[in-house]
Amino acid sequence: MTTPHTIAVLGLGRMGGAIAARLTAQDWDVVGWTRSGRTSGAVKTAGDPYEAVAKADIVLLALFDGPACRQVLDDVREALRPDTIVLNTSTIAPAEAAGLARQLGSAYVHAPVLGSVPAAAAGALQILAAADQDALDRVRPVLETLGTVRRVGDASTAAAFKLIANNGLAGAVLALRDSLRQADALGLPRAQVLDVLELGQLGGLVARKRRFLLGEPPAGPAEFTIGALAKDMALLAAASDIPSPSAADLADTPADPGADIAVAATVPAVEDAVLEPLRAYIRGHATGDPAHFREAFLPTAHIEGIRAGAFVSWRLEEYCALFRGRPAPDERTRFRRIDSVDVHGTAATATMTLRHGADTFTDVFLLIRAGDGWRIANKAYHRHD
Ligand SMILES: NC(=O)c1ccc[n+]([C@@H]2O[C@H](COP(=O)([O-])OP(=O)(O)OC[C@H]3O[C@@H](n4cnc5c(N)ncnc54)[C@H](OP(=O)(O)O)[C@@H]3O)[C@@H](O)[C@H]2O)c1
Repeated sequence: MTTPHTIAVLGLGRMGGAIAARLTAQDWDVVGWTRSGRTSGAVKTAGDPYEAVAKADIVLLALFDGPACRQVLDDVREALRPDTIVLNTSTIAPAEAAGLARQLGSAYVHAPVLGSVPAAAAGALQILAAADQDALDRVRPVLETLGTVRRVGDASTAAAFKLIANNGLAGAVLALRDSLRQADALGLPRAQVLDVLELGQLGGLVARKRRFLLGEPPAGPAEFTIGALAKDMALLAAASDIPSPSAADLADTPADPGADIAVAATVPAVEDAVLEPLRAYIRGHATGDPAHFREAFLPTAHIEGIRAGAFVSWRLEEYCALFRGRPAPDERTRFRRIDSVDVHGTAATATMTLRHGADTFTDVFLLIRAGDGWRIANKAYHRHD
């Protein structure tokens, strides 16, 4: 086993900066480079990536995404020696990782990392490393300076595991957002809500982000950005070909993509205005007064479904004529719940569950933001057996 001497760290963003600083502090010979020319603490830097790579035994990439990795590797290709190891810690698509592994052969180590800036600074990352045994032996001392190494079958698999891990994080961020929103709607005090959440499944996230969640200014710059997590969820949905609610939710988060993921946990899940026509629709059912349906729906709306085995399509006025202006006799036992709302600019979809006597319905709505606010453009329903 040869011990590498010089490590070029390409990309001195949040993770690259922390990784380069950790390696430098642990006496590795590090030379950093980043596109913007930014420097990072005590880390030696080079003016261009070619210069950084020329003397390096290991080229460590900590770049935003797959295209950035390709771009930077293309720029330094001529400076890579046959025995230079490319150690890629970036979170990229499985197909992109497989492409780099094919192109660089046994000199490529794909090593996405679990953990953020504090873990990199403390050498406590969890590293999913895919590589030939020789290459892994050569980079292991470097990786062990950064954290714990778990060997994974191949580059594509390592990249896929990393995306799955981040799917868990995205789910936690969105679950936290939902919990805070529900708690706010119930008028619960935020500090005590966080105390309770910290006891449960979201505990780690709440503990790390508590200060921000209490409304205090962030202690420092964003550690992991909404944009990076949204990028990962988009890569996952594209790779699996299965829709990812987290991908759409994070991409549509009304916040700066450069903000910390904690910000995504605090924005309202949906703007209140989109709920207004759904609430008017609920009032229509609760009172039997069709005026609420005229408020809820666009006049052009159709209400469609299967009734007694046949397709029905009512125009709004035909639907309104079904109501008598007074509540159903069993209204006190009826139940209605908005299950989901997904807003995409001026269009939205929503679903609702209604239990009316022995019948349970799922209503599926298409909503449009017209000049004077949101209205239901169409409704389709399913009556459950
Ligand atoms: N932050 C975390 O907690 C965390 C944790 C695990 C994994 N990751 C993953 O680690 C990677 C880096 O994340 P980060 O949070 O450090 O991101 P970041 O702060 O946004 O840094 C991204 C880096 O990529 C460089 N870059 C972006 N596009 C480029 C391009 N086209 N050509 C050359 N350089 C380019 C940036 O250069 P300049 O800014 O100098 O222009 C910067 O050095 C990402 O794949 C991320 O998903 C992040």
